[in-house]
Amino acid sequence: MTEDSAIELPPDVDPNVPTTARVYDAILGGTTNLEVDREAAEVFAAHIPQARECARLNRNALIRGVEYLVRAAGIDQIIDIGCGLPTEQNTHEAAQDIDPDARVVYVDHDPMVVSHAKALLAGNHNAIVIGADLVEPERILTHPEVRSFLDFDRPIAVMIIGMIMQISDEQRPDDIVATLMDATSSGSHLFITSWPDTGEPEQRALSRACIETLGNGWIRPIEALERHFLGMEMAPPGLEYIPRWFPEHPDRPVPAVEELEPYERTQMAGIAKKA
Ligand SMILES: C[S@@+](CC[C@H](N)C(=O)[O-])C[C@H]1O[C@@H](n2cnc3c(N)ncnc32)[C@H](O)[C@@H]1O
Repeated sequence: MTEDSAIELPPDVDPNVPTTARVYDAILGGTTNLEVDREAAEVFAAHIPQARECARLNRNALIRGVEYLVRAAGIDQIIDIGCGLPTEQNTHEAAQDIDPDARVVYVDHDPMVVSHAKALLAGNHNAIVIGADLVEPERILTHPEVRSFLDFDRPIAVMIIGMIMQISDEQRPDDIVATLMDATSSGSHLFITSWPDTGEPEQRALSRACIETLGNGWIRPIEALERHFLGMEMAPPGLEYIPRWFPEHPDRPVPAVEELEPYERTQMAGIAKKA
């Protein structure tokens, strides 16, 4: 059981309101969360008992995607938007294990994530964190630290992992993604994981739990998830259910879609490359 008093909250953080980052941490069994977040995690578990497995699947996809980007696609600059609280293995660790010079900019709108990441990254000259909101992509793109840290004339990977479902249709997620990708050079990549809606109860349950506790988290038809990639060329195997998504080994045998457990069909991953 986490001692809430041991957790340092930045000023202006209301300890009575759950946040996505802390609820996700609680679901994953982390210790950077408050009572209110653990209660929300219980709501997730009530709606979908495999909520923790879902979160783990997403983290596994994140690592596989970063490994593909750095090792196979030769990417050495990454913007990870909606990065969340530090977990076991993070984007910069996976990237820098392969290329120690790979640079990572973490972005999150939650001040607690930013303060924790700052502490964690102290001493790492190839990773920084900024506080910014995905719905204001220009602010990310024009942020002085981002501009001086990354070279926009060379390929960059934009990662939006486990969070585009928190952007409503009214906030126009595809326009946001387009603004980000327009600012990048040819050879840049886009890596997204999100929640499909193919009519399955488990998909609905995950979304309901998120909306109930955090006020957002929308499942979308697979065609809508595909549109996030703006028609760019997808790296094999394309947009796939996470247990079937191995971008470095797209020919590896995987279970058929219908052989997956229903909870394994709640999340999809894909990487696209800008021509
Ligand atoms: C479910 S967590 C995912 C963390 C990590 N990307 C992963 O997949 O393991 C979603 C994260 O996105 C952040 N987030 C949500 N909406 C955001 C927004 N509009 N702009 C920036 N960050 C956002 C939350 O604060 C949280 O840290």
